[in-house]
Amino acid sequence: MREDALTAIAQATDLAALKQARADHTGDRSPLALANREIGALPPQARQETGQRVGQARGAVSQALAQRQQVLEAEHEERSLVADTVDVTLPWDRQAPGARHPITTTSERLMDVFVAMGWEIAEGPVVEAEWLNFDALNLGADHPARTMQDTFWTEPAENAVVLRTHTSPVQARTMLTRTPPIYVVCPGRVFRTDPFDATHSPMFHQIEGLVVDEGISMAHLRGSLDHMLAALFGEGIRTRFRPSYFPFTEPSAEMDMVCFVCRGEEPAVETCRTCRGEGWIELGGCGVVNPRVLTACGIDSERYSGFAFGFGIDRMAMFRHDAADLRDMFEGDVRFSSAFGSEV
Ligand code: PHE
Repeated sequence: MREDALTAIAQATDLAALKQARADHTGDRSPLALANREIGALPPQARQETGQRVGQARGAVSQALAQRQQVLEAEHEERSLVADTVDVTLPWDRQAPGARHPITTTSERLMDVFVAMGWEIAEGPVVEAEWLNFDALNLGADHPARTMQDTFWTEPAENAVVLRTHTSPVQARTMLTRTPPIYVVCPGRVFRTDPFDATHSPMFHQIEGLVVDEGISMAHLRGSLDHMLAALFGEGIRTRFRPSYFPFTEPSAEMDMVCFVCRGEEPAVETCRTCRGEGWIELGGCGVVNPRVLTACGIDSERYSGFAFGFGIDRMAMFRHDAADLRDMFEGDVRFSSAFGSEV
C-alpha cells in the first residue's frame, strides 16, 4: 500500500496528476484509510503493531505528497516564467516606416502659404483635352508657341487629348466654372518630352496660381511671388524677373532664383552643372492674364484683370534640401524621402 502510494506520487508529472494520486491514496476510500479504520477491530497486540505501521505509512505518504507538491508548483512557476519571457535579442518583423516625399511636403508648404492668404486649391486631370491645354489659353492649332511645349500626344484626332504640358489648363477650367473674384493655386504633375537629367524630367510638378479680380496688375503678381518665395526660403532670397512670352499672358515674365548649388558666386558658377554656368535657375513663367483668355473663358475683360504663374515645384524642393540632381527625386528610394520629406 505504502509503496503503491509513493510510486504514484513520484510518477505524478503535474499538479492535476498529483491531486488524483492524493485522492486515490489518502482519500476516504483509499486502502490506507480503510486499513486505518480496521485497526480498532484487531486484538490488542496486533492493534499496536498495525497501528504503528499504518501511522508510519500515512506519515510517509503525506510527507511525499507535500514534497512532490512543492516540486511540481516550482516547475509550474518556472514554465510560466519561461513562457512569458521576451527575448529582446531575437530578430523581429520590422515594418519599415514610409516617409513623405519632399515634393509632397514642398507642395503642401506652398499651398499653406496661399491658403493663409485666403486662396483656394483647384485641381484638374493630367490627361487633358487639347483644347484646354492649348486653345483656351490662346495657343491655337497653328500658333508657333505650341512648339515651346514638347507635348506627349495621344493619337491625333478631332478632339485630341494630351498629357498636360503645364498646369495652366486648370486656370481655364477654373475660369470656365467660377466667377471672379478668383484666387486659386493648382499643384500637379505635368509632362513634356524632355530629357531626363540633373535639372529636367519628362514628368515634373508645377504649381499654378491664378487671380482674377478688379484692378489686378503686374505689381500684385510680383508681390505674391516674393511673399511665396520668402515664406519658403526666408527673406533675402535672390530672384529676378526676365521678360518673356506666353500667349496667355501679356506682359509675360520668367522668374529665376539664384542657383542653389553655386549660389551664382565666382568661381563656382563657371563650372556649375546645375545652372550650366548661368548662376540662375528658372522657376517658371508668369504674367498678366491676356484679356483674350478671359474672354475665351467667359469673363468680362473690361471689368476684370488677372495674373497667373506656373512654377516648378521640384526645383523648389531641390533648393530647399540642397539636392543637386533632380533624378534623385524620382528614384523612389525611401532613404531620400526619409532624409528630406518629413521637414515641412
Ligand atoms: N504654363 C507656363 C509653362 O508651363 C507657365 C505660365 C503659367 C506662364 C502661367 C504664365 C502664366 O511654361
